[in-house]
Amino acid sequence: MGFGKMGHAVREVALAQGHEIRAEIDIGQLTRESLRSAEVAIEFTQPDAAADNLIKLAGWKVPVVCGTTGWYGRLEEVRSSVETSQSALVYAPNFSLGVQFLLRAAREIGNALAQRPEFDAYLVDIHHRAKKDAPSGTAGAMQQVLRGADHTRAYPITSIRSGEVPGTHELHVEGPGESLTFQHVARDRTIFAAGAVTAARWLVERPRQGVFTLEQVLFGETDETG
Ligand SMILES: NC(=O)c1ccc[n+]([C@@H]2O[C@H](COP(=O)([O-])OP(=O)(O)OC[C@H]3O[C@@H](n4cnc5c(N)ncnc54)[C@H](OP(=O)(O)O)[C@@H]3O)[C@@H](O)[C@H]2O)c1
Repeated sequence: MGFGKMGHAVREVALAQGHEIRAEIDIGQLTRESLRSAEVAIEFTQPDAAADNLIKLAGWKVPVVCGTTGWYGRLEEVRSSVETSQSALVYAPNFSLGVQFLLRAAREIGNALAQRPEFDAYLVDIHHRAKKDAPSGTAGAMQQVLRGADHTRAYPITSIRSGEVPGTHELHVEGPGESLTFQHVARDRTIFAAGAVTAARWLVERPRQGVFTLEQVLFGETDETG
């Protein structure tokens, strides 16, 4: 669903892995019939479209992997639809493995900084000029895990939109007389597409009910942050 930059990348990865693409659905085309009995949907559309798409798919009990960001204000509404319909959803602001590692590092940094008020941290997200939401969902998730150990800390995010950057995230830590920087650079959208296809296989290979994150797909954990 959503045949833009990510939709094309998902198509390429899925075909290369031998999967069949039943349907390519763009704006205004989502009906139950349009899905052509697909086993799973992969949704990369836009912030104002995703939640309605997910609620429709839940009503039809079609499991879905959602990579769209910027709709999380409606997460509880979507979760309630998925749970009521006993359907399944995997969502993640970032389907790359490297960002999962970065989130884990951010959690450790957050724990350490909770005991170290003399240290600050901030986040930077850099994306192509067409990205519709800011800050990025990934930067938001990093901020959330940093704050896990101390909700009073701000950990501000700066978003830069420029050129064709697929996605760069930085975590900067500043202490008295020293600095530390973690950086994740997505060089190619294929990494996100591959993560989304892995999540789709996870949903199909052992049918599940409920709302899951990529962390649960990759590491089998119950924590929904990330
Ligand atoms: N989770 C991740 O790993 C990850 C990675 C990269 C991007 N993203 C996110 O994924 C989303 C898509 O990114 P992108 O770079 O592929 O954007 P894009 O190139 O703008 O593609 C979005 C596509 O969705 C279509 N669309 C819009 N509303 C729709 C609807 N209601 N139903 C079906 N299709 C609809 C658009 O059609 P029109 O062109 O006709 O409007 C467009 O073809 C963004 O939210 C982005 O932030 C997530």
